[in-house]
Amino acid sequence: MNNDLNYQGSDLMLDRLPLADVAKEFGTPVYVYSASSIRRQAARLMRSLGTIGSLRYAVKANANPALLSLIFSMGFGADTVSRGEIQAALDAGCPADRIVFSGVGKTPEELAFALDQGIFINAESEEELAAIARLQTGAHVGIRINPGVDAHTHQYVTTGTEETKFGIPIDAAPDAFRLAMDAGLVPDTISTHIGSQITSLEPYRKSLARLVELRDSLMSDGIPVSALDVGGGFGITYDEGADFSVEDLQALLHRDFPQGIQLSFEPGRYLVGHAGTLVTRVLYRKRHATTFVVVDAGMNDLIRPALYRAHHAILPVTRRDSEPVLCDIVGPVCESADCFARDVHMPLPEQGDLLAICDTGAYGWSMSSTYNSRPLLPEVLVEDGEPALIREHGQ
Ligand SMILES: Cc1ncc(COP(=O)(O)O)c(C=O)c1O
Repeated sequence: MNNDLNYQGSDLMLDRLPLADVAKEFGTPVYVYSASSIRRQAARLMRSLGTIGSLRYAVKANANPALLSLIFSMGFGADTVSRGEIQAALDAGCPADRIVFSGVGKTPEELAFALDQGIFINAESEEELAAIARLQTGAHVGIRINPGVDAHTHQYVTTGTEETKFGIPIDAAPDAFRLAMDAGLVPDTISTHIGSQITSLEPYRKSLARLVELRDSLMSDGIPVSALDVGGGFGITYDEGADFSVEDLQALLHRDFPQGIQLSFEPGRYLVGHAGTLVTRVLYRKRHATTFVVVDAGMNDLIRPALYRAHHAILPVTRRDSEPVLCDIVGPVCESADCFARDVHMPLPEQGDLLAICDTGAYGWSMSSTYNSRPLLPEVLVEDGEPALIREHGQ
């Protein structure tokens, strides 16, 4: 959970600021971010993985321009998956030579734009390699390899097994590297990303062992591979417990990985997940066979519970003393999946009370939509106890 959220008396505070004050000033629903949480996560990554490779923030997790500027100012590059994300990274001050372009379906226009800007491309198929070679021979590229490793995360965020659309299967990798060389490209990087919200080291250990073997065989076939992009996926806790140990991954790489290869990492969720809180207001209660608490945020604002059955802790912004009841916290959208939590045990909130949906900084606003013609939410960044509006309502 976000360490910057805590109660002072009955009031939930973010970085010394009562969340009720933020709701009063900016309205609800509203995404509120803590700069100190992002700085803390960034510092932990820099102290561990940053000592053995370069770090690129996966912009898809949260592309708010103010957060991007903050993250790039701390020395992170960018992992992007569309022209829009590349532009957002450039606009927020990330130099082109620290941006990589990933994704299974890059259009010819996007590839041309990236090459023009001098942005490194991680190709995901043989046909994409051919498309890059048609645009620019001599380009250095990475090839995303699907190592055939199950990261034991949710099916929709697993990307390293053969049934998923991502990368080139490891058995076909030598041919793909050869094809790239023959087409006049310089395929000097093995890239991978085995999934998101990974909580144990084991999938990384397995995948890296396979990729080291691949690298050795490519080198002995005269294909010089100088870099490995490990991808992201480092999980965070959405309740009690600890985040994925980036220190253990550092130790593994330090111990078992050959020297003389450049490493890079693409964390998204790990940097911003804890930093965000979605503050929402209770509209109505319905007490029948099930007790429903209807709030003003919906699945269009935060889709993770509906899409992945993801758990987010939900806290009252002002604590009440009444007896806890079992209730479902639901949004106003016309779908039964529009439910943030089932069977929550909490004192029944009153109409008008505020609730805080925790750890919503990653894949929250960035996955939101205007479904049901609902406007996009405003975003607020809290720095040293001061709130600043970093995205207007509806934009
Ligand atoms: C290629 C790539 N790199 C990095 C990430 C970031 O993942 P996470 O936010 O789990 O760290 C993703 C997420 O899907 C991705 O597709």
